[in-house]
Amino acid sequence: MSLFRTSKNMREIVKIVSKELQITRDEAELVVATLIAQPRFEMYLNEKIDSETVALLNMKLQQLKEGVPIEYITKKVQFLDYQLVIYPGVFIPRLETEYFIELIGKLTTRTPKTILEIGTGCGAIAVSLAHVFPEAQIVATDISPTAIDNASENIRHYNLRDRVTVAQCDLFAGLTGQFDIIVSNPPYVPTSRIPSLPKSVKDFEPILAIDGGYQGVQFIERLVREGKQHVKSHGMMAIEIDEDEVNILRQFLVTNSFRTFVIKKDLFGRFRYLFVGDVKNEKSKNSH
Ligand SMILES: C[S@@+](CC[C@H](N)C(=O)[O-])C[C@H]1O[C@@H](n2cnc3c(N)ncnc32)[C@H](O)[C@@H]1O
Repeated sequence: MSLFRTSKNMREIVKIVSKELQITRDEAELVVATLIAQPRFEMYLNEKIDSETVALLNMKLQQLKEGVPIEYITKKVQFLDYQLVIYPGVFIPRLETEYFIELIGKLTTRTPKTILEIGTGCGAIAVSLAHVFPEAQIVATDISPTAIDNASENIRHYNLRDRVTVAQCDLFAGLTGQFDIIVSNPPYVPTSRIPSLPKSVKDFEPILAIDGGYQGVQFIERLVREGKQHVKSHGMMAIEIDEDEVNILRQFLVTNSFRTFVIKKDLFGRFRYLFVGDVKNEKSKNSH
């Protein structure tokens, strides 16, 4: 289906997009500008839009209508200061993870020399931490070969190949040595909640990146239990969690004799980040 057939001018295109996607004119402008990779103010400078651009725009708008996330259409995602390439089928980094990076920087008790990231996806956390900790060597892993290719491209783009090593593996399998920080934004959505996720997530993002099993904590519990052997004695593990998992995880940590841990809130006031081990002691109303 074509949203528009002939070479309409930009004003008409924006009007049609606004109507078709049921968004405001401002939003439609932003969508069109993103899809044709032009600044908004430049969009209106070319009165006539060639037929090739029209065809491409039609195709992309159709994908949007079907629920495909815009990041998969443009193959780009902004994460902190980094414009990353994102491959369809790789988890799209979220805003909450940007704040996670800031918290890791604040809570570590010493400057890390070695960092392990489990489940790197497109490499957003690894690329960011490489800049936060310019002396650190980072190992970034994922079980998905597509994610590994995607992360490798972003690491290459930011000239980090000598500092960030990428490895395809299942959790800690085949990894040796100990790290100052182990970090992960793991799959943590309870299996039972997956059907109620937005269509753009459940139909287009990889289930492997989302499904945390029964109660959502299967992966997190394995990470903490197995991570113990891979973290240095004054190191820490930093893990994103869901706020509904706080009580289950607290119980798990106490039962398994993990004495020092803190759970921090995100910018929306939800408890979303678990830090285990040597964590800077700054108890506040944002901690559990
Ligand atoms: C929620 S995504 C996080 C991606 C990225 N770190 C981010 O924050 O945007 C979880 C990632 O874990 C990976 N993953 C799932 N199971 C894994 C396993 N058993 N071992 C390693 N990685 C795994 C998925 O492929 C996915 O890339």
